[in-house]
Amino acid sequence: MSFDTIIRPRRLRATAALRSMFREVHLSPADFIYPLFAVPGHGVKKAIPSLAGQFHLSPDMCAEVAAEVHALGVPAVILFGLPETKDATGSSGADPEGPVQAATRAIKKAVPDMVVITDVCLCEYTDHGHCGLIHNGKIDNDSTLPHLAAQALSHVQAGADMVAPSDMMDGRVAAIRATLDSEGFSDLPIMSYTVKYSGAFYGPFRDAAGSAPQFGDRRSYQMDPARRREAFTELDLDLAEGADVVMVKPAGPFLDIIREVRDRCDVPLAAYQVSGEFAMLMAASQAGLLDERAAALESLIGIKRAGADVIITYLAPKAARWLREG
Ligand code: PBG
Repeated sequence: MSFDTIIRPRRLRATAALRSMFREVHLSPADFIYPLFAVPGHGVKKAIPSLAGQFHLSPDMCAEVAAEVHALGVPAVILFGLPETKDATGSSGADPEGPVQAATRAIKKAVPDMVVITDVCLCEYTDHGHCGLIHNGKIDNDSTLPHLAAQALSHVQAGADMVAPSDMMDGRVAAIRATLDSEGFSDLPIMSYTVKYSGAFYGPFRDAAGSAPQFGDRRSYQMDPARRREAFTELDLDLAEGADVVMVKPAGPFLDIIREVRDRCDVPLAAYQVSGEFAMLMAASQAGLLDERAAALESLIGIKRAGADVIITYLAPKAARWLREG
């Protein structure tokens, strides 16, 4: 018996030209935000062991790398800082001379068009490595908020184009918004790490940023991966508090959440392909198990197809080169 169907999806898969013509999702260097790790000093460009091809960069070298990736068509960087000193409240995070603030000034001077986004969090600046202040052995929400707002303000005063709080304290978008507004920065957008799951995929970053918690874990503030609907509570809150861009993080293991958040709001959506996702791709490629370029681009297409408008990824310069080569 023959199956005489008139609908044959293979017709449009027959040639490269047809496949290309009907593609719905397109990746471009303009989709990417590249993370940079700023350290104190001058002329420092030191390979980060846990993140292949990534570097600890002094502010002047941040500017150099920003210029390179901007020339590849990548429009934005997100800055993380490794400060000289740490204390219980993460006060070095708001130091106008801190590495993020200095790198922001250096990048904006060298490449004025580069969009400089700064990660706002305490974990890189606290001696205990948690994203909030500790009271009675617990991470305290409300006393953390003014510290986050102070850090965000110092980034903006250094020239940041956007701030991105990643701490997952309740109410931090509103607190940062109020501080920026009262200091004359009501035009400055906030990209909120709206839906940030707790889990195993941040390890290489914490090695790179020196931000691992010194006791316990982050499960009392970051989200439980087995919860889905809570993502929409976080989304509603961040929108009500004035988030201009929302984010889902990690990306690959949470593509369903990216899609649902995309369908539930109209603001731009960022997705963060985090350090563990990147490390898996790199390790499998280096072991000869995956074709690096094909697998990396497929991972990014998947995130875009799920609904992300922009992708924070350590692959940004590589992927931008591949896309330009065609
Ligand atoms: C700071 C922060 C983290 C990441 C981004 N901002 C680490 C964490 O939450 O522990 C992770 C990024 C990555 O893994 O690539 N809170």
